[in-house]
Amino acid sequence: MAAAGRALRLLPLLAAAAVVLEPAAAVWPQPQVEGYPPGRGRCSLPPRRFRFAYAAGSAVGPGCAVLEAAFQRYWALLFAAARPTENEPPWGMPCTQLLVFVATPGCDGFPSLDSKESYKLSVLEGSLLLSADAVWGALRGLETFSQLVGRDENGTYYINKTEIVDFPRFPHRGLLLDTSRHYLPLRAILETLDVMAYNKFNVFHWHIVDDPSFPYESLTFPELSKQGAFNAMTHVYTASDVQTVIEYARLRGIRVIAEFDTPGHTLSWGPGAPGLLTPCYLGKDPSGTYGPINPILNSTYQFVTSLFQEVSAVFPDFFLHLGGDEVDFTCWKSNPKIRVFMKEMGFGEDYKKLESFYIQRLLDIVSSLGKGYIVWQEVFDNGVKVRPDTIIHVWKENSIPYMEEMANVTKAGYRALLSAPWYLNRISYGQDWMAAYQVEPLKFEGSPEQKDRVIGGEACMWGEYVDVTNLAPRLWPRAGAVAERLWSNATVRDLQDAYVRLADFRCKLLGRGVQAQPLYIGYCENEFGGF
Ligand SMILES: *[C@@H]1O[C@H](CO)[C@@H](O)[C@H](O)[C@H]1NC(C)=O
Ligand SMILES: *[C@@H]1O[C@H](CO)[C@@H](O)[C@H](O)[C@H]1NC(C)=O
Ligand SMILES: *[C@@H]1O[C@H](CO)[C@@H](O)[C@H](O)[C@H]1NC(C)=O
Ligand SMILES: *[C@@H]1O[C@H](CO)[C@@H](O)[C@H](O)[C@H]1NC(C)=O
Ligand SMILES: *[C@@H]1O[C@H](CO)[C@@H](O)[C@H](O)[C@H]1NC(C)=O
Repeated sequence: MAAAGRALRLLPLLAAAAVVLEPAAAVWPQPQVEGYPPGRGRCSLPPRRFRFAYAAGSAVGPGCAVLEAAFQRYWALLFAAARPTENEPPWGMPCTQLLVFVATPGCDGFPSLDSKESYKLSVLEGSLLLSADAVWGALRGLETFSQLVGRDENGTYYINKTEIVDFPRFPHRGLLLDTSRHYLPLRAILETLDVMAYNKFNVFHWHIVDDPSFPYESLTFPELSKQGAFNAMTHVYTASDVQTVIEYARLRGIRVIAEFDTPGHTLSWGPGAPGLLTPCYLGKDPSGTYGPINPILNSTYQFVTSLFQEVSAVFPDFFLHLGGDEVDFTCWKSNPKIRVFMKEMGFGEDYKKLESFYIQRLLDIVSSLGKGYIVWQEVFDNGVKVRPDTIIHVWKENSIPYMEEMANVTKAGYRALLSAPWYLNRISYGQDWMAAYQVEPLKFEGSPEQKDRVIGGEACMWGEYVDVTNLAPRLWPRAGAVAERLWSNATVRDLQDAYVRLADFRCKLLGRGVQAQPLYIGYCENEFGGF
């Protein structure tokens, strides 16, 4: 907690001019509205007696798995370091419970794009009240509460009086992990979900398979991972692993959106699905190498239907991510059967039309399974006819201005997700979180209706150079910059203030056992674990 003060003196790249050292409260991401009840003050929290409880009239109560699990987590986060003999706080009226009021019932479902995440937290004289429309908002409020608790110089736990009204700016705040270029053990995924919840991220975009490996163990097509995983025994996600991830995420109010990217990025599918990929040719003969999924065979669509039937049933979220990016046409062009098909279809030399032909059929298949879909921007750029409720994921940063793409996508009436400036796998010397932080997702020319179609964004952690050894330090606290941009008011963008709070938050993460890397010079009270 005390780190905030020190961080201020260290502001490196910023003018260390007049800074008021009175952070309302170092909460990350910054809540929407924070006010103080008259006559400031604080409330001590006696660890041995403190408990979470349900307020009278709450629509959910004991037995609500989401909240019961959260109460246990947060009690442990706050007080695990308390000595069993901890004395009663020496001053003031202690606050012995946080009362939670949830207005609408529902504990067993999954969070969705429409989930309500707003909450109100009041810390008044001797009373702590958290109210929310839905359990998902209560989870966000518990996180805020946990970040407000501090310890004074004598080790007494306390919380300053405050009143917070909070809600997310965007409903889709995601983080992409790539488990194909390097396999991430289950434990690393679960730990990431924990830290996502600390940052109020609510979507885990699981880029589960790609060219290098196919770790998803399919019930319908077990050969895919048997032949496509780095190691079919150790480097796979079993059905039970996947269920564990989905439930762990649900308990933290996080949706799991799986991506099975096609028709490109599928090399690892080939060995386990003979005939699926396009054989490439060298002159008149097959070269022995393979390209994207073969779009001209009926068997391809039978395969895709069966696979997505399974995937739709396994992942409960309404949305699937269908990829559709970076399709390399060289192999298709080399294949004489594909060229004949192109002629028959009247596609001329335009291989985008062939790609569209495939994607169109894929989208129809997935729609018929009752799912919605997200696709990378090329699907839109190439003019594929998509359903009006499709979400277009904008990722290209260099070739074209991404804000222009956001304008075009929303002008065409589609909803948009932004990732282009948030490829956190890219690193550079210095404080690169600042560039991510300064992005304004709505800074494009467009009507208010267009701006409404931006549902949020995702930080991406592609796996070429990332595995379990460096995942956490590369993600945290840098992804926090994206988390705050997507949660907090657009006017919260002061770098100096953000530096102080993010440095403080990073110290909290260390205290929670997360190997979050430093922003710059300095130290934390709890660098070696413990609160
Ligand atoms: C409580 O408020 C005081 C005075 O504003 C501040 O110095 C302190 O850091 C706050 N404590 C916490 C845990 O936020
Ligand atoms: C900490 O303990 C000392 C010695 O008992 C006392 O004088 C001081 O007021 C305490 N500080 C707080 C914040 O309670
Ligand atoms: C592929 O399916 C289409 C329509 O279902 C059918 O007309 C065509 O004959 C099939 N082609 C082959 C090679 O089976
Ligand atoms: C956006 O649309 C305009 C008009 O169709 C086009 O000229 C421009 O290239 C598009 N921009 C991007 C980034 O695709
Ligand atoms: C964001 O902050 C500005 C300035 O404080 C305020 O006018 C606006 O109402 C806030 N937006 C929301 C959605 O609360």
